[in-house]
Amino acid sequence: MVDILPDDVRKWQYLEQLIRTEAGRFNLEEIRTPIMEQTELIVRGLGQLTDIVSKEIFEFSRGNDNYVLRPELTAPVVRAYVEHHLEQRGGSQKLYYIGPMFRAERPQKGRQRQFHQFGVEVIGSDDPVADVEVIAFMLHIYNKVGIKNTTLKLNSIGDPESREAYKTALKDHLKPNFDKLSEVSKERFNKNPLRILDSKEEEDQPFIDSAPLITDYLSEESVHHYQKVKEYLTDLGIAFEEDPHLVRGMDYYTETAFELISPDLGSQDALAGGGRYDLLVEEIGGQPTPAVGFAAGMERLMIACEELGITLGDEKSVDVYIVTLGDAARKWGLSHLPKIRNLGVSATMDYKGRSMKAQMKDADRENARYAIIVGDHELESERFTFRDMKNSEEEALPFSKIKGRLSN
Ligand code: HAM
Repeated sequence: MVDILPDDVRKWQYLEQLIRTEAGRFNLEEIRTPIMEQTELIVRGLGQLTDIVSKEIFEFSRGNDNYVLRPELTAPVVRAYVEHHLEQRGGSQKLYYIGPMFRAERPQKGRQRQFHQFGVEVIGSDDPVADVEVIAFMLHIYNKVGIKNTTLKLNSIGDPESREAYKTALKDHLKPNFDKLSEVSKERFNKNPLRILDSKEEEDQPFIDSAPLITDYLSEESVHHYQKVKEYLTDLGIAFEEDPHLVRGMDYYTETAFELISPDLGSQDALAGGGRYDLLVEEIGGQPTPAVGFAAGMERLMIACEELGITLGDEKSVDVYIVTLGDAARKWGLSHLPKIRNLGVSATMDYKGRSMKAQMKDADRENARYAIIVGDHELESERFTFRDMKNSEEEALPFSKIKGRLSN
């Protein structure tokens, strides 16, 4: 788990602001759910046999209740949708979120135990337009930030019947070579055979390469939906790579599945991922309601920015630094800070009773735009030295004039 220190928080605030502004332009509304959820929701939503549920959840109990720190937000958002009857608001619910998630994974670059996601869940539409708008929003954020060298991987994993038929075919294909598979894949063979396609182990590759393709097992309806998604993406000029081996890590997915990959990230190269989950609302107790969404790793976005030399947000700075000499001047400073702040600009002063020279140095360190220099002489004449820290020009001005300058 990682502390985010002030110099980095500025980057986070910039990114969060950008996401909020752009989400507004896409007519998405923010939803905030608790950090904890009942274990049962996550197990039901994601699937007992998934890596996240079987190995990675932080779980604890209190009395008879079992809780987890949320490992993701799709199931919690669906729970909130069902619990608060959000369908009664009418139309599809177009929701976004930003927040921390928790997975007990082995930490490495781009993989933390507490990490942050921003994401979108559009609940109530089975239209391929919804899939494409969700993908477009995801890409829009990376474009705005300046991360353009990404690959959108796309697949369809169809409806549950197509997937069951495919699972059987995949297992039939792998069975004769079961002994040659990696230990992880052997373990997945019965529990979650689709995830074998996701294996990075070398010994699995020949069998993965020769495996049947899920896209050959799709029902007519699934094929049609997938075609439409590809057609609309193409119309929008959004490039994608079809990857019939792309299977996602949660059981709730149906139909469209996608991931956004960055070559700038090393081994943890998934910037974001998502897809349809048309059966999850019903699974969690609501009416049958189709839905689609994605989530993006914010730390990974930041790592990509660092690799690409993209700076997020501004440097630390303050508009006004009041430099004071003597106790009367300090009092003047303290009582004039609120007057300056009320103009809508930021202001600070020395809290340590330092020399004037040390205060000027501090104003530089704080990246102050202006300094107001106050001593006995200034207090007597009621004219204060107003210093432009950029070009070092100074003027003696009454406070009313300084206010005028600062309000411009
Ligand atoms: P996910 O693929 O598990 O999907 O996570 C989405 C993104 O979160 C990943 O692509 C990655 O960037 C980031 N991420 C995941 N685990 C970690 C970690 N341990 N450390 C740092 N970053 C990480 C979901 O969570 C689904 N809920 C997405 C979704 C929304 N599907 C439909 N709607």
